[in-house]
Amino acid sequence: MAAMFTVLIGAQWGDEGKGKVIDVLTERADWVVRYQGGNNAGHTVEIGGVRHVLHLLPSGAMRPGVRCVIGNGVVVDPLALCAEIEELRGAGVDLRDRLFLSDRAHLVLPYHRAFDAGREAALARGERIGTTQRGIGPAYVDKAMRTGLRACALGDPEFPRIVRERIEAANRHLAAGGQPPLEAGPLAEQLAAAARELAPHVTDTSRLLDDAWRRGESVLFEGAQGTMLDVDFGTYPFVTSSNATAGGACTGSGVPPHRISCVIGVLKAYTTRVGEGPFPTELNDATGEALRAAGREFGATTGRPRRCGWWDAVVARYSARINGVQQWALTKLDVLGGFDPIRLCVAYDLNGRRLDEVPADARALAACRPVYEEMPGWAGSLQNVRRLDDLPTAARRYLARIEQLTGVPIGILSLGPGRENTIVLDPPGVGAG
Ligand code: GDP
Ligand code: IMO
Ligand code: MG
Repeated sequence: MAAMFTVLIGAQWGDEGKGKVIDVLTERADWVVRYQGGNNAGHTVEIGGVRHVLHLLPSGAMRPGVRCVIGNGVVVDPLALCAEIEELRGAGVDLRDRLFLSDRAHLVLPYHRAFDAGREAALARGERIGTTQRGIGPAYVDKAMRTGLRACALGDPEFPRIVRERIEAANRHLAAGGQPPLEAGPLAEQLAAAARELAPHVTDTSRLLDDAWRRGESVLFEGAQGTMLDVDFGTYPFVTSSNATAGGACTGSGVPPHRISCVIGVLKAYTTRVGEGPFPTELNDATGEALRAAGREFGATTGRPRRCGWWDAVVARYSARINGVQQWALTKLDVLGGFDPIRLCVAYDLNGRRLDEVPADARALAACRPVYEEMPGWAGSLQNVRRLDDLPTAARRYLARIEQLTGVPIGILSLGPGRENTIVLDPPGVGAG
């Protein structure tokens, strides 16, 4: 059988339901690969009513036998990864022989977290990014500065000494910025213990994926964050520090572009954003609050309330183009039950000028006013709907309008957090490869 390499990305500002969709699709996958970001991600998988939130581990971890790769493009906090492995072990998930960590992945060390927090605290209110404070930005800075430590160092007998010296050096920077020092000795010991636990998982993961390709296996690339948080294509500077878009799957895993057979965009039926930065369709009113309550929109990593607003076709079209999305996995349609009318943003108005594209300048995007179209809503829950034909007419019309406005078909429809609340209309790869 021909290998299937499918990339799944977030089409908005993250939290679109990527974890859920990955979990559904891994029923038929051999591998799941994380390729960028770190434990700033929070991917929720709900199985039999039990909720699991994955941060660094690929969401495929929840399926026994599925092999999990943390690729070179990910920044890995060894302490957080060990804690996550331990937590899953407690839930009966054994990753011993099926977790592979790229030897080229950069490490997030305690001082990256301290720098992240310090920088946010030092910024003026309008300049703050509202990061997850997991040290992601500073770790990617070290990578680009060529001063980072990589996972291949975890097996180095000198690792404890190296991290201790690095923490001590970082303490000098922290002191200069008026931040308290880190306890170098105890932290170096904790990191040494984590290194011993993780070292057996460290390998050249690009080779594993090359072998998987030759064996005709199927691989899912699990994007973290979303297109609008991408360091190149997002609402810069209010973004994360990696390429969350589809191209990142290749550079972040060592897989050649022509091996990617399919790109799926995960798209929420409305829009959310957590952290600072422009968000044209944000609703700072009772409707926004009602969306937050109905969709349980609180961060899976930080618990922060997510900002909520109507669905935005300008963002979705932009995502479709940048990522080459071949089908949408549309999520959380069920949440819109009872909202009537439903509004869709079809364009922006920037000082009287109509815009159909996302402007590069975050200030220009902040000044954009949404141009809305209204559609009738529907009442009642959709969570038990299992066939497209059983959806209320208004819901089907809403889906058709999303397809029309974006030019991309909906291949997967998610109507609730569980595996069972999913309608797979067009299995990925069929007709797309
Ligand atoms: P991710 O970061 O893209 O994986 O998304 P998160 O896990 O951060 O946030 C998505 C939230 O919505 C989680 O709590 C999921 O359990 C939940 N969820 C996913 N799909 C659906 C859906 O179709 N309907 C509802 N009601 N909840 C969903
Ligand atoms: P998943 O994978 C939503 C946001 C933060 C902040 C900005 C930069 O669960 O969709 P960072 O800590 O990365 O430097 O923060 O990016 N952010 C996310 N928002 N979902 C995520 O991940 C996010 N990861 C980072 O809130 O605005
Ligand atoms: Mg999330």
